[in-house]
Amino acid sequence: MSNHERETYTVTGKSFTAVAVNMAAKAGEYMKSKLGQATDVRVKTSPHDLVTEVDKGTEILIRKIIHTYFPTHDILGEEGVEPGAEASRLALEAVKDREYVWIVDPIDGTTNFIHGLPFYSVSIALAHRGEVIVGVVYDPSRDELFVAEKGKGAYVHGKRIQVSPEEELAGSLVATGFPTDRQHVLPLALKQIESVAPRVRNIRAGGSAALHLAYVAAGRLTGFWEANLNAWDIAAGMLLVQEAGGKVTDMNGEPYGLHVRDVAATNGRIHDDLIAAIR
Ligand code: IPD
Ligand code: CA
Ligand code: CA
Repeated sequence: MSNHERETYTVTGKSFTAVAVNMAAKAGEYMKSKLGQATDVRVKTSPHDLVTEVDKGTEILIRKIIHTYFPTHDILGEEGVEPGAEASRLALEAVKDREYVWIVDPIDGTTNFIHGLPFYSVSIALAHRGEVIVGVVYDPSRDELFVAEKGKGAYVHGKRIQVSPEEELAGSLVATGFPTDRQHVLPLALKQIESVAPRVRNIRAGGSAALHLAYVAAGRLTGFWEANLNAWDIAAGMLLVQEAGGKVTDMNGEPYGLHVRDVAATNGRIHDDLIAAIR
């Protein structure tokens, strides 16, 4: 790589992250002002899968900013995709190998948001030819902005974060989620919880996959797993965990890729044991 190319890459990389941070901050401020005040609550795939006018408005705000700075980039945003796993797979398939794709979940934790429970986030990732190079998760309730750049570490407000030191499940605090698909996925999730609960210190289910991943990166949780998530739930948090020294795979231990829907993310040290417990 010539000096010129290296310089160009660095400058471009910085500006991608700066734009991601800016979008997350703006989006977070907007949604926080609407907490617990959504008026148009609609059912997506089931009464456990909801969307509001604030989810849609936030995604529009983010799309406008992306188009302003990077008009040629593609966007995979939750509210631009029909509900359901199959539509998500197709939407990802259509863009995954494109040069630059922004992967956006405008509100991760919509159920909490509707109920006024301050545990939700905005999740923004940028993938370059299928590889996530920037990940930002913002929690407006605590004003915590988690940022990761490929190869450059993970940070919250400029302070480097690291995964937690636990070596064993017995001392681990882990998190999971209750899936929106109550017919096929919930029975599996309940079996996993039954298997994991006696082995760990405790389990939490906060209701925002992206924030759970950010918490694994920050060492507040030892690990997280959940089945049937979408690329926009995982991509940004995945990079945070990796850049904080942790490990992210599917539930069989296969390497992470944008197609992964059943995710396991840990401090690395308990990874194999957590996977053994959920399989
Ligand atoms: C949901 C949250 C939740 C998880 C669900 C997701 P949404 O995303 O991440 O924690 O358990 O599976 O669908 O619908 O609030 O963006
Ligand atoms: Ca989500
Ligand atoms: Ca969402």
